[in-house]
Amino acid sequence: MLHVIDHPVIKHKLTIMRNVETGTKDFRQNLDEIGGLMTYEITKDFPLVDVEIETPMGKTTGSKLDKEIVLVPILRAGLGMVNGIQQLVPTAKVGHIGLYRDEKTLEPHFYYAKFPSNIANSTVMIVDPMLATGGSAVAAIDSVKNAGATDIRLVCLVGVQEGIDAVEKAHPDVEIYLAAKDEKLNEIGYIVPGLGDAGDRIFGTK
Ligand code: PRP
Ligand code: URA
Repeated sequence: MLHVIDHPVIKHKLTIMRNVETGTKDFRQNLDEIGGLMTYEITKDFPLVDVEIETPMGKTTGSKLDKEIVLVPILRAGLGMVNGIQQLVPTAKVGHIGLYRDEKTLEPHFYYAKFPSNIANSTVMIVDPMLATGGSAVAAIDSVKNAGATDIRLVCLVGVQEGIDAVEKAHPDVEIYLAAKDEKLNEIGYIVPGLGDAGDRIFGTK
């Protein structure tokens, strides 16, 4: 199921990121901040359990998140979202999955995966700014499922219908969160209007 998070501050920051004049430092900072704002929205239905605690004034029943959270950034660009999300959930563990898209075929190529041992019992948030053809997201979800994950959310900034359809077809159980649904993919598989090459803009590699 698709959730497009509609929030004026997110729209404002995403516009800064879309601007071709925005440099690496501001691109990264706004990505960080949007990651945090999206997490605030995404986590609002996360289940709680009661905990008995003692305040300086006496005993009370409080709450804690029922499940641990595991973040799985898709390398490289997904790394740019980790800090912002960890501001909200600093105890989240972090797995990594390395995938790159072949420039011609647009097929994802796997090169690395390392996940925390508690992934099967955790809520897993796969993070990547871009959902284009959806090939990378589908491969990342396959990989965390192979590692035992069952409660999986895909968190991207910008996506298009083609990518949403690919994920919903392959993994109908996964909730998809976007900050914006864009118009289309161009002839070389880039999102329009999009952000350009997210990895290059985060890491200054072009
Ligand atoms: C980008 C992006 C996604 C993928 C999306 O990564 O960060 O992972 O492309 O495209 P898709 O939906 O068509 O699979 P890229 O492969 O360019 O690697 P990078 O992050 O290392 O630059
Ligand atoms: N990957 C990117 O970094 N940008 C796009 O528009 C599509 C895939």
